[in-house]
Amino acid sequence: EQIEKGGYDHFMLKEIYEQPNAISDTFRGRMRVDEGIIKMAGVDDNLTKLLNAKRIVIVACGTSWHAGLVAEYIFEELVRLPVEVEYASEFRYRNPVIHQDDVIIAISQSGETADTMAAIKLAKEKGAFVFGVCNVVGSSISRETHAGAYTHAGPEIGVASTKAFTTQITVLALIALKLAESKGTIPKSDFHYYLQELERIPEKVKISLQSAAHVKSIAETYKEAKNFLYLGRGFNFPVALEGALKLKEISYIHAEGYPAAEMKHGPIALIDEQMPVVVIATKKGHYDKIVSNIQEIKSRQGKIIAVVTEGDVTVKELADHVIEIPETEEFLTPLLTTIPLQILSYYIAVMLGKNVDQPRNLAKSVTVE
Ligand code: G6P
Repeated sequence: EQIEKGGYDHFMLKEIYEQPNAISDTFRGRMRVDEGIIKMAGVDDNLTKLLNAKRIVIVACGTSWHAGLVAEYIFEELVRLPVEVEYASEFRYRNPVIHQDDVIIAISQSGETADTMAAIKLAKEKGAFVFGVCNVVGSSISRETHAGAYTHAGPEIGVASTKAFTTQITVLALIALKLAESKGTIPKSDFHYYLQELERIPEKVKISLQSAAHVKSIAETYKEAKNFLYLGRGFNFPVALEGALKLKEISYIHAEGYPAAEMKHGPIALIDEQMPVVVIATKKGHYDKIVSNIQEIKSRQGKIIAVVTEGDVTVKELADHVIEIPETEEFLTPLLTTIPLQILSYYIAVMLGKNVDQPRNLAKSVTVE
């Protein structure tokens, strides 16, 4: 096992550090930046079906559901298609309205999650086209869907999902870009620029990983906290949910993810000097709004850990700690902002002596209801 961990203390840490390569593997052979094309067999072979979709419904569980939420923002922005994101377990039991021109995207790392599988079967019965985004090649879900695209993240052993999440977002961004280009919902020049930006992401993930020592010192400061709040807006709202989930899963600290503006409808009541608040406050993406949310936290003595774009000045003055990530196109920021949040939860769990790779009560793949 020591050898399999490749010199890392835990699989989770190894998988966090594998992300630059995993993301490259996801777009390798699919994205030809020089020629300005995206080739994905599962998409190309079903292009008419996908382009004629009136709506996309994404079904998934856990971290994959969070990737689905990011995809909702990306598809709506780039492809101008309505998207709904459903917990597979809810979808399957509530007699959902599904039309024949709906495309269902099922996201699953393992390809074996029982609820997601049941949701796929239901959607197929109702005549929808089902597209799978799985990591495990030949898995049940990859076989049950009409078409699909693998994430090619390589085996993920740590129960808390890391590289599966970022590679799912990568695949979904590729699909959205391909559809946007085919539909003409984005200008050609933007399409080319976005491909170049996506190609630079692995390098930028590497740079984001360099904040690990700094994030570790933040973990040391807050490891005894009883609660954490995670806030984000737009593309980074789902990242806040995912950051909170990571912390809960492996450190057993209660954490909530929230859309930053929604904080005033509840969580703000909890903020005092005991409450660390992780805020994703990258440039663009409602930056001014996030800054005012940070001011609201500060005036209630909450401790602010902000993920910012490198060179940020405004948030730096307000926050107790800032973690910088490189600048990128807004819809790609989740691929970077999620990195320090994974590292933060990892170190807190390690410092608390928890079983990082196999947290209590959780399974890597939930194959029964
Ligand atoms: C379990 C795992 C999570 C995962 C979820 C969905 O809860 O512990 O890490 O996100 O299942 O799994 P899937 O394989 O369908 O993505």
